[in-house]
Amino acid sequence: MTTVAVTGAASGIGAACAERLAAGGHDVIGVDLAGSDVEADLGTTEGRAAAVRAVIERGGGVLDGLVTCAGLGPTSTRPGSSLVSVNYFGTVVVLEGLRPALARSASGSAVAIGSNSATIQPGVALGVTQACLADEELTARRLADEAGAVATYPATKLAIAHYVRSRATGADWAGAGLRLNAIAPGMVATPLVDEGRADPELGPLLDALPIPLGRPGQPVEIAALVALLLSGEGGFFCGSVLYVDGGTDALLRTTDWPAPFVLAPRSGGRPGTA
Ligand SMILES: NC(=O)c1ccc[n+]([C@@H]2O[C@H](COP(=O)([O-])OP(=O)(O)OC[C@H]3O[C@@H](n4cnc5c(N)ncnc54)[C@H](O)[C@@H]3O)[C@@H](O)[C@H]2O)c1
Repeated sequence: MTTVAVTGAASGIGAACAERLAAGGHDVIGVDLAGSDVEADLGTTEGRAAAVRAVIERGGGVLDGLVTCAGLGPTSTRPGSSLVSVNYFGTVVVLEGLRPALARSASGSAVAIGSNSATIQPGVALGVTQACLADEELTARRLADEAGAVATYPATKLAIAHYVRSRATGADWAGAGLRLNAIAPGMVATPLVDEGRADPELGPLLDALPIPLGRPGQPVEIAALVALLLSGEGGFFCGSVLYVDGGTDALLRTTDWPAPFVLAPRSGGRPGTA
């Protein structure tokens, strides 16, 4: 029996993850605003700290797996700042707060839920991404309120992808025997998408989203990959950002990546893609 914490466990993808992991024999600690084992608001500093404390207590100081699903979707009226605080800081603060408990497991592994919106949606509020990655929540919140939730949502998910890729390979994660990966789902049939579809501005955009497989994903299809990533069979995944989106990213960004590694310095001085 291993212990796995799942944030956003009361609905959608998080609920499917909790169910799948429990069916696989794991002891699941759900975290959500309400209707879960640990009730906490991950949009606030106090709520994040309380959630971390409660999960550590319930797990007896040891955690084998962590899945961060808690998140808010965009609507035309929701302030962008709420997405910054829940989607990005509600993810990374929990990852960092629970990392020591994961390090006490023989096979600690974490999966963060990003989104394919990070790479398929035009008009990403990149200043928000940069402020998130610089750990400047107040600046990110201010920029997000200026940009609005629609441009902020993919910005928070891009920040999660870059956070995972930059941290996973370092001393705190791979160096400590811990695996950190991300999943970037496309449109998945959950209350978050129902809410977006009901929005007069966002709804038509969501309805126009091209999905080559011709349907939204189901939460269980994301949960299956989460279970693999947490398991020993997923033991070679490290810093991966896995797209599960019915083909949308492949359709819209066909040859943008994989991109060849170019040794000439970029403007930032580091080698990279052309
Ligand atoms: N559904 C999709 O199409 C889709 C696509 C890509 C990524 N995602 C991401 O997947 C994750 C799960 O989304 P979902 O579609 O299952 O949505 P959902 O609305 O069904 O579930 C999200 C859960 O997060 C919880 N939550 C929201 N704010 C919180 C807070 N402040 N503190 C604690 N919990 C909070 C909600 O209560 C809810 O239970 C989100 O991060 C979302 O951005 C979803």
